[in-house]
Amino acid sequence: MRVAVLASGHGSNLQALLDACAAPASAAHIVLVVSNREGAGALERAGARGVPAATIAPDGQDADRLLALLAEHAVELVVLAGYLKRVPDRVVAAYRGRMLNVHPALLPAFGGPGMYGRRVHEAVLASGARVSGATVHLVDEQYDHGPIVAQWPVPVRPDDTPDTLAARVLAVEHRLLPAVVLACAARGGAALAAAADATRAPLRPVARPAGVAPHSLDDALVPSSPLPLKERS
Ligand code: GRF
Repeated sequence: MRVAVLASGHGSNLQALLDACAAPASAAHIVLVVSNREGAGALERAGARGVPAATIAPDGQDADRLLALLAEHAVELVVLAGYLKRVPDRVVAAYRGRMLNVHPALLPAFGGPGMYGRRVHEAVLASGARVSGATVHLVDEQYDHGPIVAQWPVPVRPDDTPDTLAARVLAVEHRLLPAVVLACAARGGAALAAAADATRAPLRPVARPAGVAPHSLDDALVPSSPLPLKERS
């Protein structure tokens, strides 16, 4: 499957996809990287892997150019990986059911216009939520709104800051997004819903990046502050 990745910044999710799709036998191949920011780290990562890269207008609203780039590279699946602009309606329509986005929270909570980067984790901590996580969803005409394909939980720790939480969620994004893309490609079609089923299967354990806590239910159940235990009657 020919995959294009849209990214606005550092590109660590792009890197995870490039690494996951690097094997010649991979069912998915990153054939194009597009950014709305000249000099974005994502463009350097594409260059380092010899993947064609292009920039579009900073506001991301140049639908003709984006459609032309996607057609030129015969793109079958579009992935938004740290892409901060709303995709023009005509492009969404042309790739309906074949465009994915990764978001660093458990949508539908903590998503929408302006909810990106550190702000997301600040909002999660301010809400007192005990579990956050990552979401991969289909893209529609609204920010962070389309059908959810896959999610993975990340327990919130009592001592978390927006940065420590963001780092653990990002480590999960780097596992979840490639798993979804490879599942889509393995099924060879746009049946993303079917791929969603595939990704519900427990992710096979992979080496945890340093500093990432193992996911266990116990983590989620450890209260941030001791709960007043009911006196034994
Ligand atoms: C990620 O957390 C992604 O979910 C969010 O922006 C961050 C970008 O990370 N939209 P990177 O550019 O992929 O490193």
